[in-house]
Amino acid sequence: MKVLMVNGSSNLKGCTFTALTEVGMALEKQGIDYEIFQLGPKPIRDCIGCGKCHEGKCIFNDDDVNRFVEMAQEADGFIFGSPVYYAHPSGRLLSFLDRAFYCSTTSPKNPFNFKPAAAVVSARRGGTTASFDVINKYFTIAMMPIVASSYWNMVHGNSPEEVKQDAEGLQTMRNIGVNMAWMLKNIEAGKNSGVSLPEVERTHRTNFIR
Ligand SMILES: Cc1cc2nc3c(=O)[nH]c(=O)nc-3n(C[C@H](O)[C@H](O)[C@H](O)COP(=O)(O)O)c2cc1C
Repeated sequence: MKVLMVNGSSNLKGCTFTALTEVGMALEKQGIDYEIFQLGPKPIRDCIGCGKCHEGKCIFNDDDVNRFVEMAQEADGFIFGSPVYYAHPSGRLLSFLDRAFYCSTTSPKNPFNFKPAAAVVSARRGGTTASFDVINKYFTIAMMPIVASSYWNMVHGNSPEEVKQDAEGLQTMRNIGVNMAWMLKNIEAGKNSGVSLPEVERTHRTNFIR
């Protein structure tokens, strides 16, 4: 089983990466693989709401969104990590996730539904829980069970060295890994004993109430 993580910072080896790596090491101890998908510093387009997503693909092919959505099909769980910018997740992560999640609704097999997920945020000081809330909202609209930890999923630091001194933050990261592994094994065990995925209603899209 494999967890696909996203580093929503353009700093390839920064604080968010350090936090995600701590989760990853805990996952590996439980026998679960992981990969960190780097958004990097290159431009990422915003969703333009054109509605032309087709079969789980965005019309824009000049960044990594479609590649990520393809990889997501094979993943069993997700962690989305972000630095805190002015008390919200990075703009690049939000642009990326808006398009990845919106185009996935047109996919014959949505790559996110029913797969467990967790958000991770990194800040020097403030804006962590607001940022954490924003990322969690992608999960709850996509029927993704949320993996919890022993505190809200944050680390504090302005550099990886500072993050490594945040003992409780790192403990929180390790506990995400342990709990994610536990949830994945439970889902697998359920599948093996005949528990199928839920059949949910998808017929109503009520834009306003008369
Ligand atoms: C544009 C910008 C805005 C920031 N806003 C905040 C903020 O609101 N609160 C905070 O605590 N840190 C803020 N920071 C600091 C980063 O969140 C913090 O250093 C983070 O750990 C960096 O993660 P990274 O190394 O993965 O990029 C900001 C940094 C930048 C570049």
